[in-house]
Amino acid sequence: MSVNKEIKRITTNTIQEMKVRGEKISMLTAYDYSMATIVDEAGTDIILVGDSASNVMAGHETTLPITLDQMIYHASSVVRAAKRALVVVDLPFGSYQGNSKEALNSAIRIMKEAGAHAVKIEGGVEIAESVSRILTAGIPVMGHLGLTPQSIYKFGTYTVRAKHEAEAQKLREDALKLQELGCFGIVLEKIPAKLAQEVSGSLQIPTIGIGAGQHCDGQVLVIHDMLGINKGFKPRFLRQYSNMYDIMHDAIKNYNSDVKSNSFPNEKEQY
Ligand code: KIV
Repeated sequence: MSVNKEIKRITTNTIQEMKVRGEKISMLTAYDYSMATIVDEAGTDIILVGDSASNVMAGHETTLPITLDQMIYHASSVVRAAKRALVVVDLPFGSYQGNSKEALNSAIRIMKEAGAHAVKIEGGVEIAESVSRILTAGIPVMGHLGLTPQSIYKFGTYTVRAKHEAEAQKLREDALKLQELGCFGIVLEKIPAKLAQEVSGSLQIPTIGIGAGQHCDGQVLVIHDMLGINKGFKPRFLRQYSNMYDIMHDAIKNYNSDVKSNSFPNEKEQY
């Protein structure tokens, strides 16, 4: 008798059913095979290959420099690792803003070359045509509203968005539009918890919050932030589950010291 249990893949339908059941959805970023393996095996529902790779993997100040080719490279490594999680990949800055045909071509490249399961795209009514065209091709789309880091030079700061009524109202309308177009979920980033609660309650599709309070249908964090690999980044919304910077730093220091003192390798560690 085989003991291999078949792993049931999370799909956009699963995510929708979780919202209906009131079951919270967990999402984390990953950008490479090894990290994605751990994230997947730990039971994360959605792995986001975020354009935050531009910050945490490449060391850029913003998400703007990362290219579509680079996102495809990261995404294909993550897809090879993910046996259960739904893999969602960010369309990077400059790969969809030009026109809807360009947006569709970029989304198709991510699905075809990386083997992703869905794409995420920042913006509301202004990108409706692109969202619609991607969806028409059978590609699931996740929206992203509130703090949209690709627009950082328009906002000028990474502080909380939609605190004032005009911006809150635009966000409500954008969320409804994305749902009406057929998005399967929406990331709400850094908005007041009360607004996120209202939007989550008004939508049939799930919301995934980051800095948007406990009433979203799910939560997402950047893996480097929640593991404490980014030592200096400690916004209020972040819960740090480990102190990996110090753990890794100490391990590497010990290795360096063992090499210098010739205590590594010892007799048992050689042939
Ligand atoms: O790129 C990213 O990691 C994201 C999350 C912050 C939601 O978009």
